[in-house]
Amino acid sequence: MDIGGNTRICGLIGNPVEHSKSPLIHNTIADAMGEDLKYVLFRVDEKAQLEAAIKGAYALNIQGLNITVPYKSDVIPFLKELDPLAERIGAVNTLVRIEGGFKGFNTDMPGLYRALSEDGVKIEGEDVVVLGAGGAARAVCMMLAERNVGRVFLLNRTIERAEAVANEINGLHDAKIIFPKVLDWYKDIPEGKKYIVIQATSVGMVPHPEGVIIEDEGFYNKVSVGYDIIFNPRETRFMKLVKAHGGEAYNGAKMLLYQGVIAHELWTGIPVPFALAAKAYEKMYGEV
Ligand code: ATR
Repeated sequence: MDIGGNTRICGLIGNPVEHSKSPLIHNTIADAMGEDLKYVLFRVDEKAQLEAAIKGAYALNIQGLNITVPYKSDVIPFLKELDPLAERIGAVNTLVRIEGGFKGFNTDMPGLYRALSEDGVKIEGEDVVVLGAGGAARAVCMMLAERNVGRVFLLNRTIERAEAVANEINGLHDAKIIFPKVLDWYKDIPEGKKYIVIQATSVGMVPHPEGVIIEDEGFYNKVSVGYDIIFNPRETRFMKLVKAHGGEAYNGAKMLLYQGVIAHELWTGIPVPFALAAKAYEKMYGEV
């Protein structure tokens, strides 16, 4: 659709933003839905410019924004409202225009949940292993704890970080859901069944695709489904090892897709049909 007098503008704020897949996702969806909406990239060079960028976007009647690295937490003070999930996670990736400013949401974790659901991976009641205890892993654990999983074994090289995440989330739920462990504990993981494993570290990402968080092939015999939040390379070594031992493996591309789909739905108020999300995914995947 051509740009005209009523075209609504959405965009991505971050630095860098040039290689983002988000324009592809949102412009594909908008075109196919017949929405007069365009999505563009707004690089904000420095944190000191962030407040002016958000206020300027509001003044310019921008409909919605995504926020990416490194501003997902820094943006919070400049918002009019904050969704409770985004508040708990402490990171915002989507802004929706409301009266007097923007409201912040986190669609990354709902995106991961929707990606798992679309791939037929049911987590409710299941024991899940999470690898890593950085910002991404913490958000994954928040999502899992809210979805009534069984136990979450949180394995990290630095046990203190795993403990901090577990204390925080178990405290929020007043229940022991997250069990912090050192990475090597995978050798002691209870036998007799296979696990859903979410790889939430940056190990194995381009430019170091040869990396994998656990080298020991024995571990992969215990994996039923391996989900890597990395999407570049398309097939990480973690995924290859899961598949080589009979498990199903997925990369983070669908999480990326669905965080965008959910953001788009928040901006327009109209659900994006599955077939259309699939079309955006195909386009996106062609370029990953
Ligand atoms: P993010 O916010 O993207 O999650 P992060 O907070 O820097 O990034 O966290 C990186 C995660 O990858 C951590 O769990 C880190 O383990 P430590 O807490 O022990 O540092 C993990 N990680 C990174 N490189 C690793 C490596 N070579 N071996 C094991 N774990 C690694």
